[in-house]
Amino acid sequence: MKVLGVVGARPNFMKMAPIVRAAAGGGLTLELCHTGQHYDDNMSKVFFEDLELPRPDVYLGVGSGSHAAQTALIMTEFERVALERRPDLVMVVGDVNSTLACSLVCAKLTIPVAHVEAGLRSFDRAMPEEINRMVTDILSDLLFTTSAEAEPNLLREGVAAEKIHFVGNAMIDSLHFYLRKAEASDVLARLGLAPGGYGLVTLHRPSNVDDPAQLAGILGAMREAGEAMPLLWPVHPRTAKMLEAHGIDTAAYGLRLVEPQGYLDFLRLMKDTRLVLTDSGGIQEETTVLGVPCLTLRENTERPVTCTLGTNVLVGTDPARIRAATRAALHDTRRAYQVPPLWDGHAAERIVAVTSDWLAAR
Ligand code: UD1
Repeated sequence: MKVLGVVGARPNFMKMAPIVRAAAGGGLTLELCHTGQHYDDNMSKVFFEDLELPRPDVYLGVGSGSHAAQTALIMTEFERVALERRPDLVMVVGDVNSTLACSLVCAKLTIPVAHVEAGLRSFDRAMPEEINRMVTDILSDLLFTTSAEAEPNLLREGVAAEKIHFVGNAMIDSLHFYLRKAEASDVLARLGLAPGGYGLVTLHRPSNVDDPAQLAGILGAMREAGEAMPLLWPVHPRTAKMLEAHGIDTAAYGLRLVEPQGYLDFLRLMKDTRLVLTDSGGIQEETTVLGVPCLTLRENTERPVTCTLGTNVLVGTDPARIRAATRAALHDTRRAYQVPPLWDGHAAERIVAVTSDWLAAR
């Protein structure tokens, strides 16, 4: 039985790495296809190195484009690969355009699909990832969920209960596996930062960075915190392009911009920061496990368990609310939190076990 795993963009790599490792240990043949949605060395290559991912068996090299163009190109290229290789199952992770495109190809070729991180819902259809999540889930044969609220979300949309498997969080498997190695990273010394003496910013959602007034409002709300401590901002390429296009002077907001960081360096930066301000999905989960305060600069989250159990606060994007939440987070360092159930470092083993059994029963 042969499984083809798909990765395309930065947040996919840390979810697939533990599955590759567990497959090797669990006797499952797993080949890897990288669509090339992310292609810069610091968005892709460094993650393969840090996460010790094998060289992909297939690289599609699709690159950037509009949503339709990028999705269509991934579909065309992946259809060829799926027909040539005829995998018994394709495993997709997360909610990026590569996830959607490859599931859709498989559905038309009647190749079974397993979706890792199924059932997350922001209930905001203006978010491209929400469409990717919903379509992928409805097309999938095996749905691996990270938290309890995913199952009712899926049942409501008509997914059969027997397809749903609550296995925990594969991305957190990587965090557990690499935390010690990340602690040995010299990134703080290189950047002249002291543990607990800086804040960490990431912003890349189109809704936050594509409109210059929205972006300037968010950055303006960080000025006060930026005067109290360095705010380090590893800038995503799409955000870098927007800052340049709109001539936004980030130094005026007290922000310190650096290139996107590799997995181990970023994990170290997250572990030792006083506070994270972000619009990312995965960072809400990683900070919850690390016990680091996280302010999410979005109006909704598909990961509510990070707010109910974890260290995440859904702040929104109103500058006055961001300022107030930042002040509160800097003063309240003792917030109690819990790590969500099954975020224990063993999700990938459960994914491989369920997949092997499912394939064997066919
Ligand atoms: C994608 C995912 C998003 C995820 C994010 C993490 C979708 C719909 N979105 O968003 O869910 O949180 O990845 O990073 O799939 N670019 C480069 N180099 C690269 C990759 C991108 O310069 O290696 C630039 C290009 O100008 C490109 C833009 O970034 O047009 C956006 O890239 P794209 O892959 O379309 O989406 P992301 O914003 O990265």
